[in-house]
Formats: sequence, C-alpha cells, structure tokens
Amino acid sequence: MADTERKKVIFSGIQPTGVFTLGNYVGAVRNWGPLQDEYDCIYSIVDQHAITVRKDPAKLRQQTVEGYALLLACGIDPKKSIVFIQSHNPNHAQLSWVLGCVTQFGELSRMTQFKDKAAKHADDINAGLFTYPVLMAADILTYNADAVPIGDDQRQHLELARNIAVRFNQRYGDMFTVPEAYIPKVGARIKSLQEPTKKMSKSDENPNATIYILDDKDTIMRKFRRAVTDSDTEIRFAEGKDGINNLLTIYSCATGKGIPDCEKEFAGKGYGDFKLAVGEAVADYLEPVRTEYARLMDDRAYLKECWTDGAQRAFRMSNKVLTKAYRKIGFVDYR
Ligand code: TYM
Repeated sequence: MADTERKKVIFSGIQPTGVFTLGNYVGAVRNWGPLQDEYDCIYSIVDQHAITVRKDPAKLRQQTVEGYALLLACGIDPKKSIVFIQSHNPNHAQLSWVLGCVTQFGELSRMTQFKDKAAKHADDINAGLFTYPVLMAADILTYNADAVPIGDDQRQHLELARNIAVRFNQRYGDMFTVPEAYIPKVGARIKSLQEPTKKMSKSDENPNATIYILDDKDTIMRKFRRAVTDSDTEIRFAEGKDGINNLLTIYSCATGKGIPDCEKEFAGKGYGDFKLAVGEAVADYLEPVRTEYARLMDDRAYLKECWTDGAQRAFRMSNKVLTKAYRKIGFVDYR
C-alpha cells in the first residue's frame, strides 16, 4: 500500500492493576472501540509498566488476564485491532533502551506522576519508576502511532514522547511519527466521589471514592448516594462546585446528553434525586460490560488465542520500526 493510503495508527495502553475504574472507562477505554473502523488500532495491557510498583506475581498474572478480558468486554474487537499483552512483545523494551539514550535526566525528574508515585512509595523509588515514561514513549513510537487516546493525567507523558520523537528525528534523520494526544472534551478527568478535587483512582483507599466498571447496581447506587457534593442546592456546572461538576460530567458521559441539557433536566430538583439518577444511569451504562466480561472469563482458551495472535501481529509491526531505528543509530545489521 502506498504511504498516502496508509490508515492512521492509534496506540493506547492500560495497566493491569485491578478492575478498570469509571475514570479509565470514560477518559480512555470507551473511546477506543469506536476508533477501530477508521484507524489501525493497537491496544495493550501494559504489564511491564505495572511492575514499577511492587506486585505479587500471582496477582499480576490474574489481573493481566482480567484486564485483557475487560478490554474485549469494553468493545475492543481482536479481529479489527491488535490487542496484546506488552511483555509478549520484546520490541517495546528494546526501543525503550534506545530512547532512554535521547532522554534527559532533568526531563524525567519533572514528571508529576513520578513525583507523586515516589512520594507514595518512598521505600521503593526504583529506576523503572523513573524511566517509566521512556517505556511509554517506546510503546507508542514502535508502531509509529499517529494518535494516542488517553485521559488528561497522561498528557505530560505524551508530551515527553513527542519531544523524544522530535529529538531522535533531529539527531538521526526522519524516523518517528510525532504522535498527537487524543483527549476527550468531556470526561478526561473523572474525580473521586469522596474528594472531588482529586482524580478517581484504582488505588484510592476509600472504597466509596471509586466506581469500578464491574460494580453491581447496589454498590454503584450506594457509592453515588454517599458522593460528596456542596452546601449549595443548585445542580449547575460552576467554579468551586467540584462534586456536582463531577456528577454532571459522569451523567453526561453515561447518557450522551450535553452538560447544559443535564442542568436543565435537574433544574429545581434536589441533590438526593440527582445522585439517584446518576447512579441509575451509570449502572445501565456499565451493565453490558459486566455481562460480556462474565462470558469472556468463562472462555479462557479464546482469550489466550486472542492474545497470542495479538502478540504476533504486534511483534511483526513493531519489528519493522525497530529495525529501521537500529540502522539509523548505526547498529550493525546481521540479516
Ligand atoms: P492507566 O493505566 O493509569 O490509565 C489508563 C487510561 O485511563 C485514563 N484515566 C482516566 N481518565 C479520566 N479520569 C480518570 N480519573 C482517569 N484515570 C485514568 C488514563 O489517562 C489512561 O489513558 N501510563 C499509562 C498506560 C500506558 C500508555 C502507554 C497509555 C502505558 N503506555 C502508551 C498510552 C500510550 C497509565 O498508567 O494509564
């Protein structure tokens, strides 16, 4: 196929650190499925990123399989897209070494996620945690991805990946596509239900702060009933109303209605009714994912078939890019 006919390439990944949150879903994963018809999509369970924080091996293995099934349950079709487990394709780590040699210590020191995680895991500030964004750049650049659908918290890492690509190209000649971030206008930063100034996170210690996409309806309703709001009474999107803004955003994403329409729908209604409606909408929204996930987890052989095929396709595609990058650097060819 001539280069002009080449479909644009999309890459994104998610860590296997437990059931995806409503934040992961709304900010990233739910946007991945609809891109599959128009683009060549590559999606990965990034297990190599997950070991930057100490993990129990049995738990990592289990969560990787569950994460893979969740991706398919969220509408990623392994026939249309390449869906694989990161450690099955060694080319990411290979390219990561090369890219690490064009990345500055100072750049990595400025990454806010590194600073946050280093503070949280002060007893294990390992080199992998520090160089994590380089591996993320390699994930993207080893497929020459054009766009990367992510939530807002990955913006800084993507910016670094772009800088690394530009620098490599300047040093060694045109090589990498400089990837664009694809961040949704609504839902790019879903907040904690308990502390709505903080992002919703898998690792929150307060179980009421986070909706997991496999939560049953009762759990979802209970968490929304307990969601923190404010001392005002009006359901409108405004500065300083973090709790209500978050609930309006979630309602808008779950129903597909614009924020102004959501405000109108609840004009004159109380916070109690509103929280109930948000809970109902989210439970309906997530129901198909739960059903499909249960079905897939009953068919482990199918999952394995999919990730094996995904790994082979990912390897082939990335190998072309890696081989070209090795030549540009001056590594001796052996084939
Ligand atoms: P991870 O696993 O933390 O999150 C996966 C995706 O979910 C988005 N996200 C959110 N979006 C909205 N609101 C939230 N509260 C919220 N929490 C998480 C994240 O922005 C992300 O898009 N480093 C990445 C994984 C990764 C990657 C990559 C992504 C590795 N290599 C290459 C893209 C391209 C991460 O830890 O995401």
